[in-house]
Amino acid sequence: MGTIIELQNVRFIAEKQDIVKNLSCQFEEGKATALIGPSGGGKSTILKLAAGLLVPAQGAVYFRHEDIALMNRKQTLNFRRQASVVFQDSALWANQSLYQNMELPLRIHFPQMPKQERDRRINEVLDEVGYQKDLMMRPSKLSMGEQKLIAFARAMLCRPVLIFLDEWTESLDENAAQRLINIVKAHKDQGHTIIFVNHDLRLVRYLADYVFMIASGVLSMKFTGTQLASDMDLAQYIEKGIAS
Ligand SMILES: Nc1ncnc2c1ncn2[C@@H]1O[C@H](COP(=O)(O)OP(=O)(O)O)[C@@H](O)[C@H]1O
Ligand SMILES: [Mg+2]
Repeated sequence: MGTIIELQNVRFIAEKQDIVKNLSCQFEEGKATALIGPSGGGKSTILKLAAGLLVPAQGAVYFRHEDIALMNRKQTLNFRRQASVVFQDSALWANQSLYQNMELPLRIHFPQMPKQERDRRINEVLDEVGYQKDLMMRPSKLSMGEQKLIAFARAMLCRPVLIFLDEWTESLDENAAQRLINIVKAHKDQGHTIIFVNHDLRLVRYLADYVFMIASGVLSMKFTGTQLASDMDLAQYIEKGIAS
């Protein structure tokens, strides 16, 4: 299906440190790509760069061959509607109720949608993730796992075709994690693109078509999910690399 996201010679600097160093890679449309590697290696930063949420100091990021940094407001909104992000820290708006957190993406991207329909869609995605509690409280009243569920549900509201997920099964019990995995798998089966960070190699083997190993801000290895599942030496090597 071709490339949906491309990073070309991307460099990212924070506090005078090179966090991402001249990285070039392509993410294939309709496929699941996993970013794995040791903690602090730059996975979350690369995910945010690929999602257009951080601007590279050098190089460029393209969505369907359009430079994200050069998009006008209409193109940016169009991109943001199609691409959703579940952040490692959930990133819910702390001073808004859960309901407001859920409502805002629909208000932005579908301003004509009647409240009744918004509420129907919000209930639908919350049902899918298995969240049943009150929506009127602030995110801080929830456990980390519950915040993850809301963040995940919020990301699914606008029916994204490109989904970025950062350590999205962390802090969840097994049932909840499995429910989210099934939702992501269903998206993949519909031909949507998944780009995810996860340190659970079983999940990487289950979902990923491609695996990028990230360490010290560079792409150090690239292989397929099938290789990871069938090559035991590779799997062991990777397991050690992630733990380091
Ligand atoms: N905004 C920032 N300011 C300073 N340092 C940062 C910033 N973002 C990331 N870093 C640093 O960059 C490195 C990579 O971080 P991150 O992308 O979160 O790695 P990973 O997700 O692989 O654990 C870490 O050393 C982190 O401390
Ligand atoms: Mg991270």
